[in-house]
Amino acid sequence: MMNEQWRHLTTKLPEWLDDCRQYAKDGEAASYIPELAKAPADALGISILTPDGSMIAGGDSGLQFTMQSISKVFTLLLALVDHGEEHVFSKVGMEPTGDDFNSILKLELVEPGIPFNPLINAGAIAVTSLIKGSSVAERTERVLAFIRLMAGDDAIDYNETVSRSESVTAHRNRSLAYFLKENGVLDEQTSVEEVLSVYFNHCAIEVTCGHLARMGLILACGGFDPLSGRQLVPRRYVQIAKTFMLTCGMYNASGEFAIRAGIPAKSGVAGGILAVVPGQYGIGVVGPALNRKGNSIAGIRLLETMSVECDWSIF
Ligand code: DON
Repeated sequence: MMNEQWRHLTTKLPEWLDDCRQYAKDGEAASYIPELAKAPADALGISILTPDGSMIAGGDSGLQFTMQSISKVFTLLLALVDHGEEHVFSKVGMEPTGDDFNSILKLELVEPGIPFNPLINAGAIAVTSLIKGSSVAERTERVLAFIRLMAGDDAIDYNETVSRSESVTAHRNRSLAYFLKENGVLDEQTSVEEVLSVYFNHCAIEVTCGHLARMGLILACGGFDPLSGRQLVPRRYVQIAKTFMLTCGMYNASGEFAIRAGIPAKSGVAGGILAVVPGQYGIGVVGPALNRKGNSIAGIRLLETMSVECDWSIF
């Protein structure tokens, strides 16, 4: 790929990385999942992939990190493939909340007690319960197989230490899940603990920026993988996922990110961000230091800078 924008990106990226890395000191790596506190807080890396297979990678793009909430985009896609739109949206809504990602508030406040959207923790737990499989291992394996397919790497796995570390301290997620069970949102056959185990496992799937860029590229191309020439996910489901990324992907900072960057993106508390420039690029970013809303502080800065410089906003 050799157009003007690509040249601009290649030339300026090192400078943008240096500028944005400065912001990491104003944030902190997540510590409520003890294992995540060990991440290098000042790291910042990025990979950008185009439909013709050209890739730019910069900074700490080789760093391995867990997907955390980024995995929720893919469990949503898998649940849609497993059950179709109507059933999925009888268990989870389509609206942003404006609350923190782990908030329990609206579950009791608003009828009919289904979570507002699939990207907050309550919604993601409801979606996880929809993933077909007869055991925790089988359901985890199905999510892994889907992510391996999207990322084009059979070696992808989940980090058991991170999954266990989250499970030990997941009092809030346990309460959310029991609340959903009481409201009849979780499926009858599966226990709360089983659903939570699958949820912790898929949050702990370990990737690099390159993997996120590849997954992002498939979303950018409406579910079609330009590198293998195969349609991996129905276009309609990818359209739904990208819409949620735009309206809810950065939690209660989604409005601000939509104004400043204007592209679908999904963050995770390990510091990853998956971003999509429709039709053009899949992007993976990592920067473990988070701001108060749980998004990578330097990573957001980097995406906002690049979007303005390259005029990526879809609006
Ligand atoms: O459930 C949790 O709290 C984590 N496994 C995922 C949360 C997360 O990534 C929120 N992101 N900003």
